[in-house]
Amino acid sequence: MRINILTIFPEYFDVLREVSIPARAREQGHVEYRVEDLRDYTHDRHNTVDDAPYGGGAGMVMKPEPYFEAVEEIDPDGPIVLLTPRGERFDHDGAVKLSLEEELTLLCGHYKGVDERVAEELVTHELSIGDYVLSGGEPAALVVVDAVVRLLPGVLGDHQSAASDSFYDGELLAPPVYTRPPEYRGMEVPEVLRSGDHGRIAEWRREQALRLTRERRPDLVEDSGDGADDEDPADHESAG
Ligand code: ADE
Repeated sequence: MRINILTIFPEYFDVLREVSIPARAREQGHVEYRVEDLRDYTHDRHNTVDDAPYGGGAGMVMKPEPYFEAVEEIDPDGPIVLLTPRGERFDHDGAVKLSLEEELTLLCGHYKGVDERVAEELVTHELSIGDYVLSGGEPAALVVVDAVVRLLPGVLGDHQSAASDSFYDGELLAPPVYTRPPEYRGMEVPEVLRSGDHGRIAEWRREQALRLTRERRPDLVEDSGDGADDEDPADHESAG
């Protein structure tokens, strides 16, 4: 997959080449990152990327030309995504869809927003990572890249690791996990997980996933239509 990122802070994306799974995915040839500095697509001495809003008001607006010219230079296939708090909420399903693309282009905005002609003419999707306003689209773009890249075939090595994530099948939150030591400061790992009984372990995980989902995201259980509502996990003896 090719991922293009347009930004006025290219250094923000150094982590993609240096740290954790996004960097390893690149080293292994699963993904290529192209980070373009929007200031390289300006034509004045000061490399101006923003200007005052028409109609007045506080804050500056990102000019359209650098986005248009950078996209024309890259000439990308696939989705062109603007990161913006007014966009559609980015979620696991959105990550899966984007991970199926050959190429993905992310546009980061700043200040008071991006000239509307960019949204109208250039972008195919607008995405938000949550109901809060970041100082720019860069952290949101990093979130999208991380969520997408880890879904690319071969990136996680152990497919189970993605398959057992919360939201993997649009259903339940992930159950609790433990590692050694078996007892830490008086807190014990549930006996069932140490029992070696894979049937009981699977059942316990399912119950815990249901319990957590009911407690924290009841909207997901109601939507799942898997009969989860037929059974109250509180009826079961939890080993936790
Ligand atoms: N830019 C500023 N805030 C944002 C958000 N919540 N999601 C995506 N892009 C943003």
